[in-house]
Amino acid sequence: MAEEKAKSFIEDSTAVDSGAYSANYGAHRVGISMQESVEYYSRWAEDGKYEQDLSLERYKGPIFAATFLANHFQDNRASTKILDVAAGTGYVGEQLQTRGFKSVDALEPAAGMLEQARKKNVYTNLYCEFLDDKRLPIEDDTYDCCVTSGGMGEGHIPCDGLHELVRITKPGGLICIVMREEYLSHVGEYKDRLEPLMQELEDDGKWEQLSRDVVPKYSFDNNGVVFKFKIC
Ligand SMILES: C[S@@+](CC[C@H](N)C(=O)[O-])C[C@H]1O[C@@H](n2cnc3c(N)ncnc32)[C@H](O)[C@@H]1O
Repeated sequence: MAEEKAKSFIEDSTAVDSGAYSANYGAHRVGISMQESVEYYSRWAEDGKYEQDLSLERYKGPIFAATFLANHFQDNRASTKILDVAAGTGYVGEQLQTRGFKSVDALEPAAGMLEQARKKNVYTNLYCEFLDDKRLPIEDDTYDCCVTSGGMGEGHIPCDGLHELVRITKPGGLICIVMREEYLSHVGEYKDRLEPLMQELEDDGKWEQLSRDVVPKYSFDNNGVVFKFKIC
C-alpha cells in the first residue's frame, strides 16, 4: 500500500514537472518572436501560474543571480543601484532584497509579469520595455550593476542588447548574466555570436570578463552559466 502511494506520488510529481517544463518550453519554442514571447509571459503570469510552474525549487536562476551579486558587493549594498533586466514577476528583486540590496529597478516588457513584480514592492522604478538594439529611456552610466536571470533565450534578449547594458552601467560597475548553458549553442541568435560578442566588447576595452561559471540545476536538471563583467 505504502509502495503504491509512493509510486503514485512520484507519477504525480513527474506529471507536474513535465507540465511546468512544457509551459516553460512554450515561452522558448523555436522560432518564437520577442512579441509572441512576451504575450505568452503575460498570460502565464495570470493567477500566479508562472511562479507555480517555475517555483524556486525548479528554477534556481534568481538565487544564483542574487548570490553572485551578494558575493561581489560585500559592502554598501543598500546604496548599490541595480537594474534587474527581464525582471519577470520579481523573483530576483525579492532575492536581492533579502540580501540587503535596497535600490533595485526593474525592466520587463511583459505588462502582466511587471504587474506581479510591482505588487512585491521590491523595486523603485519599473520600466515596461524590451532590451534590444534600441536606446532605453535611461541615462548613460546610471547603474552600479545590471543583472538578468532567465532573460536570455529563443525570442528573448538579442545579442545587441549587450551594448545597452554597457551604456547604462557605470565605469567599474558589474554586469551579471545568468542563463541556461545550452542556449549558448541551441539558440540561433546566440550560437557562435553571443560569446564572440562578449569577447569583442572585451577587445574593444568596453568591459572585462571577471568570471564564467557553470552552475548545476539552474532550471529543472539543466546547467546554467553565470557571466560576470566589469565595465571599463
Ligand atoms: C524566464 S523569465 C525570467 C523572469 C525573471 N528574471 C525570473 O528570474 O523569474 C524571462 C523574462 O524575460 C522577458 N523578456 C523577453 N524578452 C525580453 C527582452 N528583449 N528584454 C527584456 N526582457 C525580455 C520576458 O518577458 C520574461 O519575463
